[in-house]
Amino acid sequence: MKLEELTRLYATRVDAALAKLLTETAGPSALLKEALEYSLLNGGKRLRPLLVYATGQALGADLIHCDKPAMAVELIHAYSLVHDDLPAMDDDDLRRGRPTCHKAFDEATAILTGDALQTLAFEALASDQQPAALAMVKTLAQASGTQGMVAGQMLDLQGEGKQLSLEELQRLHSHKTGALIRAAVRMGGLAAGASADVLATLDIYATALGLAFQVQDDLLDVKGDEATLGKKTGSDALLHKATYPSLLGVEGAEQRAQALVKQACDSLTNLSGEWSSLVELANWSINRNF
Ligand code: IPE
Ligand code: IPE
Ligand code: MG
Ligand code: MG
Ligand code: MG
Repeated sequence: MKLEELTRLYATRVDAALAKLLTETAGPSALLKEALEYSLLNGGKRLRPLLVYATGQALGADLIHCDKPAMAVELIHAYSLVHDDLPAMDDDDLRRGRPTCHKAFDEATAILTGDALQTLAFEALASDQQPAALAMVKTLAQASGTQGMVAGQMLDLQGEGKQLSLEELQRLHSHKTGALIRAAVRMGGLAAGASADVLATLDIYATALGLAFQVQDDLLDVKGDEATLGKKTGSDALLHKATYPSLLGVEGAEQRAQALVKQACDSLTNLSGEWSSLVELANWSINRNF
């Protein structure tokens, strides 16, 4: 199957599961449900769920065992975006082609929407019946918090206005964006009952891919088109963020992204099986324009 068809198939699958989850878990506040739907069911690329499914399938997992981790990682990602856009953080007013959650609703609703998305992720995983469910909870929790995305977001804010070394920037990126991407790949492996050796090799792929993905995000902030991207460009420069283009220049950052994708794809040659979808996803992650 071509990458495009595969992505459509997996994105449709996770979207349907997420819509169902929001309906099943709706509580007494219709406004909260509306804000959750607004922030979650709004056409993101669904890269992280795709990685869960593509990794799981390459290792022979049943897709049913990939649904909950695919949903959970997208829920955490959506929460991170809602909070990332808040005035106290990046203060952005456009996301996925629409006003950000705090613009469409208000700041308090956006904070609570992020909180609810986060807890729903773990509710989804914890209601999974497969043997690997607990390992997935641990994987996702570690990738989200003090050792992962939240720490990366903290480093990102602390880095505003500072000239970081390449090593410091890599640490920032690999936490704020890399951690969830690594968790997605790992959970796909766990859904298939992969061995520790296979998980370790996949982690090399995911680490390089996660970094490359954020390098491309930084590049698009410099040279992307706002309408295609669905979010404001130039935000990083405005906030004096530490980014790859600001440190290495646009060309240097592009070369770095290409080298990282090569590193990611090379690591897969150490595994038996059919890995073309992960190779294609890695290449797409730096050739995308949205
Ligand atoms: C944007 O992520 C923020 C980063 C972590 C780089 P995506 O580019 O995956 O955003 P969506 O989900 O497609 O909107
Ligand atoms: C966001 O990085 C990372 C997370 C949301 C964890 P950015 O701040 O660069 O993401 P965009 O560019 O606003 O999507
Ligand atoms: Mg940010
Ligand atoms: Mg941002
Ligand atoms: Mg960005």
